[in-house]
Amino acid sequence: MRESTTPRLPIRTARLELRRLTPGDRDAMLWYRSDPETCRYLPFRPQTADEVARYLTTRAARTALEGTDGSLSFGVALPDGGPLLGDLIVFVRDLEQECLELGWVFAPEHRGHGYATEAAAALLAFAFGEVGAHRVVARMDPANTASARVADRIGMRREALLLENERVKGVWSDTLNYAVLEREWRASHR
Ligand SMILES: CC(C)(COP(=O)(O)OP(=O)(O)OC[C@H]1O[C@@H](n2cnc3c(N)ncnc32)[C@H](O)[C@@H]1OP(=O)(O)O)[C@@H](O)C(=O)NCCC(=O)NCCS
Repeated sequence: MRESTTPRLPIRTARLELRRLTPGDRDAMLWYRSDPETCRYLPFRPQTADEVARYLTTRAARTALEGTDGSLSFGVALPDGGPLLGDLIVFVRDLEQECLELGWVFAPEHRGHGYATEAAAALLAFAFGEVGAHRVVARMDPANTASARVADRIGMRREALLLENERVKGVWSDTLNYAVLEREWRASHR
């Protein structure tokens, strides 16, 4: 896996663009990241305008994926300056084991169109193609069936169900682990 990867943006898919997030995305992100239903299975509580603004100027402002706590965030938008539909993150789960983890969140009004699956598939291609990961994982609450379906559709395998392995927002919670290896991903993309 490369020690540092700076993606050439935007990454284009059939219907979408994965682009850099900017401070100008604050209101669009606040719309869905302050929504209790959207945050139900996310590791954070509904966010305030200040929290979203801080995220945009700190973690989301990173331009390269590098280091043991490296991460890259992407805005997902309709092309040519279209509205922000949601955002994605890829982060270094284990640098030595060349393992990355993906995350996704979309605004309620932009779900049910296959946008999350299309964007996550492009992020997986980035993780294996440009970054050269050995293994990519996604983790979710087992009740988050919409998220599990995204992982299924991009070709990840359901690997494990961990019981009460994490205290999320003060509550012992189960975690469903999904994963795909580089060789599995390449075999299905010939
Ligand atoms: C997880 C999340 C991103 C999934 O979003 P989603 O809109 O369900 O996922 P997709 O964009 O891939 O859309 C899939 C649906 O669109 C439908 N669809 C409609 N048109 C489609 C098209 N052209 N192509 C593909 N699918 C299409 C599919 O049939 C599918 O429906 P189904 O889920 O009923 O089977 C969303 O529920 C979310 O943001 N949740 C809150 C945040 C969260 O929990 N994140 C994950 C934390 S682990």
